[in-house]
Amino acid sequence: MLPPVIAPSILSADFARLAEETRAVDAAGADWIHLDVMDGHFVPNITFGPPVVKALRPHTDKFFDVHLMIAPADPYLAAFAEAGADGITVHAEAGPHIHRSLQTIRDLGKRAGVAINPGTPAALVEPVLDIVDLVLVMTVNPGFGGQKFLKSSMETVARVRAMVAGRDIRIQVDGGVDAETVKAASRAGADTFVAGSAVFSGGPDAYAERIAAIRAGAEGASGRDLSC
Ligand code: DX5
Ligand code: ZN
Repeated sequence: MLPPVIAPSILSADFARLAEETRAVDAAGADWIHLDVMDGHFVPNITFGPPVVKALRPHTDKFFDVHLMIAPADPYLAAFAEAGADGITVHAEAGPHIHRSLQTIRDLGKRAGVAINPGTPAALVEPVLDIVDLVLVMTVNPGFGGQKFLKSSMETVARVRAMVAGRDIRIQVDGGVDAETVKAASRAGADTFVAGSAVFSGGPDAYAERIAAIRAGAEGASGRDLSC
């Protein structure tokens, strides 16, 4: 297994102080910064677009993990790449041509991720494993921070883990991840953990402690046990 990556989602940060919040989680030990882009169409919420990614880019050298919850995604991929994304993840459910979207991300020189919702079977990602660097298994229905971790997604994580065996592909979980639920996700085979409210809800003084606790939970769990 690859060493765990902890990616705080700035969706749960103070939007009036996004640059400061990004710097704070960087200093607190974040491996990646997770940026949730929502369009009010693919998901029932709206967040931000390429200009905000670009504005934050000078404030950290950390990997910008851009999670696109938008449909269509293809017309915007170049703009997110130019804005400073390091990795771009698109939902398999967001359009009819997921292979084309992933190829476009690769052609832009960025790491390509494919995401699936909790109601989507793991098998949907199998045909595109040759052109992805990351598979994101959602552990909530996307759209909002602060939702409850769905244990039912652990079976999907385990199936994806079995499918990617031997390949250099990260398996990410996103939604309801905290120092406890991260253990089940890690045991099921995830190695990359997005956490919004579990990092940001304690305020800046607690960011380092919260990130460390999630990392400890991920490192402490191993194997393929699906219990929570
Ligand atoms: C959900 C987003 C998540 C969200 C996670 O649609 O993709 O990245 O920020 O937030 P928490 O960790 O609070 O569930
Ligand atoms: Zn996300």
